[in-house]
Amino acid sequence: MTRRIILDCDPGHDDAMAILLAHGTPEVSLAAITTVAGNHPLELTTLNALRVCSLAGIRDVPVAAGCAAPLARPLLTAPEIHGTTGLEGHDWDEPAVRAVAEHAVDVIIEMVMSAPGEITIVPIGPLTNIAMAVRKEPRIAWRAREVVLMGGSYTGGNVTPGAEFNIYVDPEAAAMVFEAGWPVTMVGLEVTRMANASEAVFERIAALNTPVANAVEGMLRFYQRQQQTSVGVNEPPVHDPCAVARVANPGLVPCREARVEVELGDGPTKGMTLVDFRRRDGTQANAMVGTGLEVEGFWDLFIGSLGATPPTPAPARGASAPG
Ligand code: RIB
Ligand code: CA
Repeated sequence: MTRRIILDCDPGHDDAMAILLAHGTPEVSLAAITTVAGNHPLELTTLNALRVCSLAGIRDVPVAAGCAAPLARPLLTAPEIHGTTGLEGHDWDEPAVRAVAEHAVDVIIEMVMSAPGEITIVPIGPLTNIAMAVRKEPRIAWRAREVVLMGGSYTGGNVTPGAEFNIYVDPEAAAMVFEAGWPVTMVGLEVTRMANASEAVFERIAALNTPVANAVEGMLRFYQRQQQTSVGVNEPPVHDPCAVARVANPGLVPCREARVEVELGDGPTKGMTLVDFRRRDGTQANAMVGTGLEVEGFWDLFIGSLGATPPTPAPARGASAPG
């Protein structure tokens, strides 16, 4: 059965690929795209989401801007990874779609409350919007089908030795999401560091030779160069599509039950996700935590979705550019 999702994102190269995967795979249906400050300030993450929608011909999915800063800390962005525009590697036209006027938090609440048990929330940036939504309307914790988030790690971070970026930017929001009482699946760095774009993957994407695939190849090459210079990695990990893959085909991301706590102190472990699989003290599990990735199946799903995405339709003659 097709899973309806709200994709909460901070594009960002890998966020862009997650949007394209969600759009191009039949197992998933985009109910809404919401944006949050993270890789870049909110204005840019929202513009980038609109750019990707325009590229892929996504016209019927509301895009709503959300929170411009974390709940309790200053915003940390990631230009060293995602460049200055957040989607370098492709020449973007002006978006042919515009964001809705409603705030992302209200879109999340209204959609989840109006479709009990149907909506899966897929956050792939800092969790600020999700925390604000469940604080404003706690009942979404019982109405949402589940939350499948890209974030966290139990084998070392990517921002500090212990913390992963999405959690580190807004640890208070992450703690609220893990404690809200809804089913949470954490797709952390243990999973996403297995989704490395090899030369064979680049060649498969290039062979599609569609406007969408060519844009992805260009973005991935930029993202690869950034990872080479800033992290010393030649095959860049595409983190965010792994969360969408878990929704589309859960077997691609094996998980185990665990208790996840978020470190909120200001010391060296700030933003760390402490993942307790054994729970020997009898504490209750609050999440399923990804422990691996079916790598071949993941890339087949992702590359297959690009082939399924129709080429960018030319804007309707006389179409007015968004204001
Ligand atoms: O740590 C990886 C996460 O941080 C991804 O969501 C990436 O887009 C950045 O937001
Ligand atoms: Ca992201």
